[in-house]
Amino acid sequence: TKITFIEHDGTEHTVEAVNGLTVMETAIRNMVPGIDADCGGACACATCHVYVDPAWEDKTGERSSMEQSMLDFASDVEASSRLSCQIKVSDALDGLVVRLPEQQG
Ligand code: FES
Repeated sequence: TKITFIEHDGTEHTVEAVNGLTVMETAIRNMVPGIDADCGGACACATCHVYVDPAWEDKTGERSSMEQSMLDFASDVEASSRLSCQIKVSDALDGLVVRLPEQQG
């Protein structure tokens, strides 16, 4: 499953993701800069904020209510904002594109 992360400055990182891991874990494993993930994926820090490409919003699904409340702590939240530790990688997400915010927290 390929996922492309686009940094705020436009730098693209296309990486091979393992199904069953989260998008956040995929970024950390591949040393994609721009995701801090301070809480390690517990949906408790909001420093794994990403913007899901509009073409993929249907496939990545809806925010959970816990995720929604954590996003209140993130900056520059948009309609496409998600916490990347709450998006699980699967074949359905092959080709996924997410953009990274200018900064986390
Ligand atoms: Fe902390 Fe996602 S890693 S909320």
